[in-house]
Amino acid sequence: MNSIEVVDLTKKFGKFTAVDNISFNVAKGEVFGFLGANGSGKSTTIRMLCGIILPTSGEATVNGFSIMHDPEKVKTNIGYMSQKFSLYGDLSVEENINFFGGIYGIEKNRLNERKDWVLEMSGLTERRKTLSAQLSVGFKQRLALGCAVLHEPAIVFLDEPTGGVDPISRRNFWKLINELSAKGTTVFVTTHNLDEAEFCNRIILLDYGKIVASGSPKQLKEEIIENGMLMMELDDVYGAYELLEKNELIRNVSIFGNALHASLSDSASGAELASDLIKSFLESNGITVRKIRQIIPSLEDVFLETIEKQGTDD
Ligand SMILES: Nc1ncnc2c1ncn2[C@@H]1O[C@H](COP(=O)(O)OP(=O)(O)OP(=O)(O)O)[C@@H](O)[C@H]1O
Ligand SMILES: [Mg+2]
Repeated sequence: MNSIEVVDLTKKFGKFTAVDNISFNVAKGEVFGFLGANGSGKSTTIRMLCGIILPTSGEATVNGFSIMHDPEKVKTNIGYMSQKFSLYGDLSVEENINFFGGIYGIEKNRLNERKDWVLEMSGLTERRKTLSAQLSVGFKQRLALGCAVLHEPAIVFLDEPTGGVDPISRRNFWKLINELSAKGTTVFVTTHNLDEAEFCNRIILLDYGKIVASGSPKQLKEEIIENGMLMMELDDVYGAYELLEKNELIRNVSIFGNALHASLSDSASGAELASDLIKSFLESNGITVRKIRQIIPSLEDVFLETIEKQGTDD
């Protein structure tokens, strides 16, 4: 059985379609990344899958329970960490854990065990009496994750859990996510950090409520940048950008700081030949090419390519 099964899920707010007929499955224990620009429908999808709001049409099951017909059962099978961590600032670390224990109806002995676990995983054992408002964002985040999985749910939904968190805390947080997944918990996570998306087993990219790409990070790179990608350092990045936009060997070009990334089109026969041709093309137009070489695309490259393709298709 899949942990999550989604069929033709749609959510409209009045005439506006926030989630547009999406379908996908998530396997048990998978770390599943849900990506997309602001307003693309990520939180709305999560709120439907958590049984908080009903879909306009379509259906989904979460741990075998229908979000349409059994939203209360859905709620007892999941943990949810909302985009604004749902901690109570005027309660201490320990009181927050007790509060969630009460919501989930966890019996006293088990709650004590689970509390020790949360304190340890969040590194807050010594600070159990501290008001959670006084914690740094990184600690708040780990405490919020601990509270979301206090009752050991089969599936945990994390809505942008790493917003505003520094890189070290983010790494530690992802270690916790991997530990949960290794124990069989399904993790459904949204993020704007594409380097984090690399840690997901599979990802979906949403654009205006529709799925525009899905697969493992490796699959997406191979399928979407199928003819390879070149990186160039030049004396005139913008001039080169404009020239390359019209060059038939190139499908898509993006500016990365003082370099360009260019995906090759079907007309390019191999990256090596293409890089020689492009170098002489740019130099014949008066641009100095300091460096040009083939690179393995990042997920950022993949997404820029996907979104821009969407743009030109419409
Ligand atoms: N209750 C609501 N009523 C009307 N429109 C809504 C409602 N909730 C969300 N929307 C709209 O639906 C769209 C999708 O919103 P959603 O919060 O799902 O996006 P998101 O992908 O989570 O964005 P972000 O990355 O900014 O968190 C947005 O245009 C938003 O304004
Ligand atoms: Mg959101």
